[in-house]
Amino acid sequence: MRPTREQAWETLTQYTKSEALRRHALAVEASVGYYARVYGEDEGFWRATALLHDFDYEIHPTLDEHPQDGAPILREAGYPDELIEAVLSHAEHLGMPRDTQLKKVLFACDELSGFVHACGLVRPTGLDGLEPKSVKKKLKQPSFAAGVHRDEVYAGAELLGLALDEHIANVVSAMQPIASELGLWTAADAA
Ligand SMILES: [Fe+2]
Ligand SMILES: [Fe+2]
Repeated sequence: MRPTREQAWETLTQYTKSEALRRHALAVEASVGYYARVYGEDEGFWRATALLHDFDYEIHPTLDEHPQDGAPILREAGYPDELIEAVLSHAEHLGMPRDTQLKKVLFACDELSGFVHACGLVRPTGLDGLEPKSVKKKLKQPSFAAGVHRDEVYAGAELLGLALDEHIANVVSAMQPIASELGLWTAADAA
């Protein structure tokens, strides 16, 4: 079975009721989907993978369980190994090789999408006009969005062979079209 984005959304929402976690999944999906287009890859499949990367976090909120105990659930639901392996590889503690472009992109987008989301939430205009330099400035403030692992943000850009500025700009523009779904201000709010 080649899973679709819609199937993945159904699985995600079956296990994840928290709005914040659903929004995180959507933010990472938007970023990973953006890179699928850049690299000419299967965007639906990449989006499905991104949506599911934390699908079990609500039922498995500790690293003893997440994401490894989610894998059998995905297997049972008929998701292919390629997707399941990519989901597992986002977790640093499992130490799995990031040997495909999808694995690299998922890792590179996970923490940064969360961080950009946090930046958008504290700005009166959300993601509108959010520049890489102000994101980088906030990355250097340990108390801001303290749960985001800075080392993973930097390692992700490096893994993609991109300058951090470019990676941030890509993620911001990927998330902009779904700003309202992410609970962020959009230009439409001002109209
Ligand atoms: Fe995770
Ligand atoms: Fe995540």
